[in-house]
Amino acid sequence: MPNAVIVGTQWGDEGKAKVIDYLTDKSDLIIRFQGGSNAGHTVIVSGRKFVFHLVPSGIISEGKICIVGNGVVVDAKQLLHEIDELRKSGISVDNRLMLSDLAHLVLPYHKALDSASESAKSDGKKIGTTGRGIGPAYADKVSRSGIRAGDLLDWDLFCAKFKVNFAAAKRHVELICGSQFELDENSILEEYRSIRERLQPLIKDTCHYIFEANRQGKKLLFEGAQGTFLDVDHGTYPFVTSSNTVAGCACTGAGTGPLTIDHCVGIVKTYTTRVGNGPFPTELNDATGELLRKVGNEFGSTTGRPRRCGWFDSVMVRKAIQLNGITRLALTKLDVLNGIDEIKICTHYEIDGELTEQYPSSSQKLERAVPVYETLPGWNCDISGCREFSQLPKEALNYVRRLRELCYNVPALIVSVGPDREQTMEVEPF
Ligand code: GDP
Ligand code: IMO
Ligand code: MG
Repeated sequence: MPNAVIVGTQWGDEGKAKVIDYLTDKSDLIIRFQGGSNAGHTVIVSGRKFVFHLVPSGIISEGKICIVGNGVVVDAKQLLHEIDELRKSGISVDNRLMLSDLAHLVLPYHKALDSASESAKSDGKKIGTTGRGIGPAYADKVSRSGIRAGDLLDWDLFCAKFKVNFAAAKRHVELICGSQFELDENSILEEYRSIRERLQPLIKDTCHYIFEANRQGKKLLFEGAQGTFLDVDHGTYPFVTSSNTVAGCACTGAGTGPLTIDHCVGIVKTYTTRVGNGPFPTELNDATGELLRKVGNEFGSTTGRPRRCGWFDSVMVRKAIQLNGITRLALTKLDVLNGIDEIKICTHYEIDGELTEQYPSSSQKLERAVPVYETLPGWNCDISGCREFSQLPKEALNYVRRLRELCYNVPALIVSVGPDREQTMEVEPF
């Protein structure tokens, strides 16, 4: 398999982890390159469910090396918890999991800052973050005051940096956000003393490891988190996450050059969901939206919040193809549309009385976008048992064909018809 990067083309939760798991078989190294434990990546193998927030989804495949790259912001306690859960399931990460020494740490005061700054915002301004401290941790990183995993190796240095940042966070929470700051500095430091002991063996110069692995012809799979429209530059700003989520970020977040990556697989849910606030032109606040949520089990893997649901929006996905350089689509959750009489696809927007096929870069304009739909007949049977593309009913085939047509006819790598690893149809391999 060529080296490939996997990205979400919508607002996250497209089924990236399922596709990562599927492609892991043909890969050697799986590398997370951005985001943090805001991600919730679900893999189901023979009915066994795993949800990952930081550990790359490839870890359940024996013998594969998994890397938490330098671009990830890491809640060390969460990482160790995931490792423990894996051990309980009989999966050892020994000598298979590495953490970049350059990855920034998400510390308890980042989470306190995250929730305090959300509380301080008025209703229309709240982002609806996952509360995992992501924004404040990336803010420290770019303001050059962050603490990196490598700093844990020098305990005195870690403590000195921690104390300065802790005091600054306390001031911010109390004076700017007007919230209580209830963390205790000494008990956190005590806790991190033992976290450090356990984490130390995982902390490596992963950029060098990736370079050597690539040189030896090992196959690299880059695991994106979130989705294109949560990207801090290209998404629905300010209702976005605090990292770049597009494919280009795989290079900076793993420490590799752009020519390392041969393919970009865009994960496309065959309808649309969003968790958190912000514009969503094709949102359905009706019985169909409710049906998609129920059948698709659209509840956040990280926070359990109900996901907002709507029709497929080709304007968005075309923009995602442009921004990421997508060379293969992976279409997911087609089975969720089973039994819907008429399925709508958004082909254009009408904005301020004008029709457009282009996604507007202004979030204010997007708020005013009225979707223009095309209606396709649905299929009245269960497709979750189909394993060959040709077994799909003609209406499902037509739906997939039309989606692809509206998406620059980018070839479809796979079509997924259920959450289990088995419920996958390979259509056009690399
Ligand atoms: P990710 O964040 O992109 O990895 O996606 P999540 O794991 O947050 O959410 C996707 C959800 O859909 C998970 O519960 C998956 O098990 C499930 N899923 C993935 N592909 C399919 C599919 O083709 N059909 C159905 N019904 N569920 C799927
Ligand atoms: P995966 O990788 C869906 C959303 C949050 C919120 C916004 C900012 O599972 O697809 P943050 O905590 O990042 O500051 O929140 O981004 N969000 C996600 N939505 N899937 C995700 O990850 C998400 N990660 C963050 O709901 O709207
Ligand atoms: Mg998710």
